[in-house]
Amino acid sequence: MEKSVIDNHAVNDYPIHDLLRKRWSARAFSTRKVEKTKLFSILEAARWTPSSRNEQPWRYIVFTSNNPSKLSEAQSVLLESNSFAKQAPILICAITKKSYTESQDPNRLYFHDLGAANENMFLESFNQGLIMHEMGGFNVSLAKEVFKIPDEFEVGIMIAIGYQGTNDSLPEKLKIKNTKPRQRKPLSQIAFSEDLEHGLQDTIDQ
Ligand SMILES: Cc1cc2nc3c(=O)[nH]c(=O)nc-3n(C[C@H](O)[C@H](O)[C@H](O)COP(=O)(O)O)c2cc1C
Repeated sequence: MEKSVIDNHAVNDYPIHDLLRKRWSARAFSTRKVEKTKLFSILEAARWTPSSRNEQPWRYIVFTSNNPSKLSEAQSVLLESNSFAKQAPILICAITKKSYTESQDPNRLYFHDLGAANENMFLESFNQGLIMHEMGGFNVSLAKEVFKIPDEFEVGIMIAIGYQGTNDSLPEKLKIKNTKPRQRKPLSQIAFSEDLEHGLQDTIDQ
């Protein structure tokens, strides 16, 4: 990693796996190319995600700095607020299939399964010594057009992957955002017993 990169580890209340603690949405990307084997390991991590009826509804359209004109087309769908991701050597458009292939029934869980696969990619990216950033801030209708997305798919998210760059490379506003301690709701606000009125932690003794 380059000098003055940031480790914004989780400040966790209970022990968790090191990768979960270290994963975070960094914004300073280096333009350094990512090795093909690393990219394929990250996609392999997505491949092994569990999914409803093993449908594997996720699809990833990958753009790399090996083809700068295509990468620049992918960059064009990002909102201004996400222009930090234009430094990244890899941009991915993650889409997901809305119905089950065999029965053709609507798949209620298509976004769930895409999110799970994306998280696997996130963790593998950090395992490979890279950073990743998911972005909902992009022009969806433009993405559908630019990436020629068929109607049976929903466009999910844009993903940037690369080596971490230095915080100095970011504009002032993003520098601050990029160094802010990460925050989470306490466990008492997300885990319950019986119904939302009863906190789980109060009802489990050991
Ligand atoms: C579905 C989704 C969409 C997101 N969209 C954006 C985005 O458009 N721009 C951005 O800077 N961060 C985006 N993020 C990053 C979140 O802000 C970030 O995950 C959250 O603040 C928690 O921080 P952490 O990932 O470092 O733990 C997105 C994250 C997710 C999961």
